[in-house]
Amino acid sequence: MYDGDIASVLVTEQQIRDKTAELAELVARDYARDVAGPGPGPGSDLLLVGVLKGAVMFMTDFARALPLPVQLEFMAVSSYGSATSSSGVVRILKDLDRDIAGRHVLIVEDIIDSGLTLSWLMKNLESRRPASLQVCTLLRKPDAVKVDVPVKYVGFDIPNEFVVGYGLDYAERYRDLPYIGTLDPSVYA
Ligand code: PRP
Ligand code: MN
Ligand code: MG
Repeated sequence: MYDGDIASVLVTEQQIRDKTAELAELVARDYARDVAGPGPGPGSDLLLVGVLKGAVMFMTDFARALPLPVQLEFMAVSSYGSATSSSGVVRILKDLDRDIAGRHVLIVEDIIDSGLTLSWLMKNLESRRPASLQVCTLLRKPDAVKVDVPVKYVGFDIPNEFVVGYGLDYAERYRDLPYIGTLDPSVYA
């Protein structure tokens, strides 16, 4: 698939699986009391908020790896400005379907690059008064960070290279790859 477009495999399917299980265990331990405490019910389930479209693959695998009842919500956002680097000015394309006031909310992302999308999103969701708000991301690029965002759960810190697969795209392609790879420069040259 995509012959010649992928220069190298950065994170294999097996590594993604293992890390997802590891993160799920951490999250389950941290939230066990909140979501299974006195009077548990639909309103106390952990609420995963996936950021479309990149987070879709991780979100669905992560939700299934979590030994906790979770509910799923999605947001779609788009940053104004150039297509290749986010500006920090974000527009909501699809909002949450429900109110999150009083809920334990965990944002699920595929990657934190500059941190601008997440920084905006956290402020936006925080203003809706959730009981708690944390972030779980599969990937993070420490060398690309422009704004520091408190991220509690990180799968892999990766080098500042263009990566695709497992939800991550270049011009909407490669999201369906089951692993994460670096894109051959010939693709965007
Ligand atoms: C990508 C990625 C993150 C965001 C990270 O989404 O999925 O959501 O960029 O970049 P940042 O840290 O610099 O803000 P993108 O806007 O490409 O949309 P997509 O998820 O639909 O691909
Ligand atoms: Mn995204
Ligand atoms: Mg993208």
